[in-house]
Amino acid sequence: MNDRPALRSQRLNQVTQAAHSELDALVKSHAPFDSRENFARFVVAQYLFQAELQSLYNDPQLIAIVPDLAQRCRAEQARLDLADLDTEVPASVPGALRSPSLGEAMGWIFVSEGSKLGAAFLIKRAVALELSENFGARHLGEPAGGRAAGWKQFTRILDDLALSPEQDAAAERGAQAAFERFTELLKHAYAADTALA
Ligand code: HEM
Repeated sequence: MNDRPALRSQRLNQVTQAAHSELDALVKSHAPFDSRENFARFVVAQYLFQAELQSLYNDPQLIAIVPDLAQRCRAEQARLDLADLDTEVPASVPGALRSPSLGEAMGWIFVSEGSKLGAAFLIKRAVALELSENFGARHLGEPAGGRAAGWKQFTRILDDLALSPEQDAAAERGAQAAFERFTELLKHAYAADTALA
């Protein structure tokens, strides 16, 4: 196709746009800001997703590309949010990402980092539940140095990274798979309402 954007980050945006809209609608369908109980289910999904990505965020090969990668991980904040919300740390869900290629890994991290942009809207609504970046909604908090700056810095690295066409295709697959996985974890989190291990 000749309407493919020149920048990799924009291509990843393009190929995941429909998945993002669907996920956004699914999140909203669960009315996460109607009660702390509803919000806690959302945090369960966020925790599971971040916990699955923890090994990527701490991967030396990836840190060589994105120097502050480890500090960008939000698994710990999500775990603290669960405690704030009197919610047990959920058992892992089969099907987590394992040993992705470099391209795939970058696609997954793109989605995880991109979700911090939507978080700016979500944290404002969490205030109605008396939650904040210091209690219960820590994982939605503004990253050190600012949201926009952090995203720009990440996408610049992603866009400048030399990848083969195969690796580039793997990045697109990785980003799409990340949305599918988050969707699955979100469904699990709300379905498992009373049955969390
Ligand atoms: C697990 C992945 C993601 C989740 C769960 C997620 C969730 C959401 C939700 C629920 C909203 C709506 C907020 C509101 O209207 O109150 C939103 C908005 C937004 N998200 Fe995401 N998102 C994810 C990934 C991404 C990615 C990868 C990007 C960028 C590449 C992104 C960029 C944005 C932006 C810019 C907004 C602001 C409103 C808009 O333009 O639609 N998100 N996100």
